[in-house]
Amino acid sequence: MAAGRAAACQAPAKLNLYLDVLGKRDDGYHDLETLFVTLPWGDDVRIEATYAPEPGDVEIVLHATGAVTVPEDERNLAWRAARAYLDALAASTKSPKEHPQRLDIHLEKRVPACAGLGGGSSDAAAVLRLLSGDLLPALTKKALKDVARSLGADVPFFLVGGAAQGRDRGDRVTVVKDVASFEVVLILPPFGCETSRVFGHLEDWFHHGPSGGMRAMRAAWRSGDPKALREAHYNGLAVPAVKAYPELGRFMAQVEQHLGREPALSGSGSALFDIPDVDEAQAVLARLEGLPGQRLLLRT
Ligand code: C5P
Repeated sequence: MAAGRAAACQAPAKLNLYLDVLGKRDDGYHDLETLFVTLPWGDDVRIEATYAPEPGDVEIVLHATGAVTVPEDERNLAWRAARAYLDALAASTKSPKEHPQRLDIHLEKRVPACAGLGGGSSDAAAVLRLLSGDLLPALTKKALKDVARSLGADVPFFLVGGAAQGRDRGDRVTVVKDVASFEVVLILPPFGCETSRVFGHLEDWFHHGPSGGMRAMRAAWRSGDPKALREAHYNGLAVPAVKAYPELGRFMAQVEQHLGREPALSGSGSALFDIPDVDEAQAVLARLEGLPGQRLLLRT
């Protein structure tokens, strides 16, 4: 029997506290200025690697279980992350002592796809983190970042996690220090929004964030004051998301009616969130009872 080793980690979901779309790039993507924060909720990723004495083709097998159903083949970004890592390793000068023969990736999925919570991107980054050093020879930091970038605009953020600012496609990531933790009510509607379709609707609607908006959000985040955080939130994808998905507009209106204030949208949706006042979270959950979908109370 081939020798094996396993490693596991969590793949947290993220929120965009602030997201300003600055303009369209030549590569078809958009330049962004965004603030990310990971949530203490997400998927679990475990990889079992088996090794052979000689180099050869590596089989990648994905097993997905959990509340959310996702494809278990190369359509899944976690599968593609493993492939991309192996390709980058083969192209590097590293000569492994152990030769991978098969990678079994186990995903316990909780984060829905097309929710703006980075579920697939976080799984992909988790695969890269587990392979780099734990199960396979580590790539250089730069090479790892390049692999992450090649998989998607949000993947580099998940290599870092925590609180961070994203520039360019959202993939030039710098850690944000000195931030306060706060409570979030995550509001998951029973449908998703495809990111590319939402960005496609920017054509008919394009606005910059408020002047000084990023600075205001950074100050609100330092203070941890829920009202200041709610007021500083901006998402330049909210209007195009509603244009692309009228059902999102209807759902947001319903949430606003129950909540008594506008909910925030994460990324390109469909997940909404509210930052309740101190000691208000249970009342917020009660006000949202009966709405379709799911709610979760979390603390950043
Ligand atoms: O990088 P990712 O695969 O997550 O992006 C999905 C789609 O979202 C892209 O194909 C692109 O249409 C759009 N996008 C964009 N600008 C960004 C990030 C994503 O236009 N900064």
